[in-house]
Amino acid sequence: MLKATADGSWSAVHPEFGAEFHSRYGALREAQHVFGSEGFFAWRSAHPHATHVRVAEMGLGTGLNAILTRRWAAQEGLDLHYEAWEAYPLPDHERAAYADRMGWTSAEQTWLAGLTLHTEPVTLQSPLPMAEFDLVYYDAFGPGVQREFWTEAMLHRWLDLLRPGGVWVTYCAQGVVRRALAARGWHVDRPKGPPGKREMLRVVRPLTP
Ligand SMILES: C[S@@+](CC[C@H](N)C(=O)[O-])C[C@H]1O[C@@H](n2cnc3c(N)ncnc32)[C@H](O)[C@@H]1O
Repeated sequence: MLKATADGSWSAVHPEFGAEFHSRYGALREAQHVFGSEGFFAWRSAHPHATHVRVAEMGLGTGLNAILTRRWAAQEGLDLHYEAWEAYPLPDHERAAYADRMGWTSAEQTWLAGLTLHTEPVTLQSPLPMAEFDLVYYDAFGPGVQREFWTEAMLHRWLDLLRPGGVWVTYCAQGVVRRALAARGWHVDRPKGPPGKREMLRVVRPLTP
């Protein structure tokens, strides 16, 4: 089911978990802030000469982060490889309705339908590509909905997708999550959050082990 958010953009509600995919204060504003300004563009300012970028997303959902990243990469003249994990892809009619309400072009929709998608449900045992990505967008449902995505063991597996110098971001700022991330020994910071949230979390993989 699609749902309007406060900035005029749209979100969705998961039929099985009953959870909303985005902030009710604004799906677009949240994505632009957490995954854009504090994720993609934080990585870009540290790598101004890069010519390509590899992005992994846990939880493709509507594809909003993917479409925005395609636009950001084009704006920056970067070749983009985008890979996502999503066990419950939106039904075609809902995906099309979402794209329509968000004003995505047909070229954007075709690109989204063709990107590398892992559809096996993610578990602690899932094979994940190590050290291959410049950016990881960790957009799982929150600890109140899916606690298993926020354990130290699971978080560290997703941190390990990063290349040295890579940037990992999530909208979640809970202390227990921050401490679990910090236990990996890499730099964790707490940028200001999107509307409705005080903070978010970001991890940068050191350049040297
Ligand atoms: C917060 S939503 C992602 C929102 C999405 N990034 C967007 O912009 O629309 C979390 C996503 O994780 C997916 N998910 C939940 N459990 C999963 C699992 N075990 N493996 C893979 N995906 C899962 C859900 O279907 C949902 O799309």
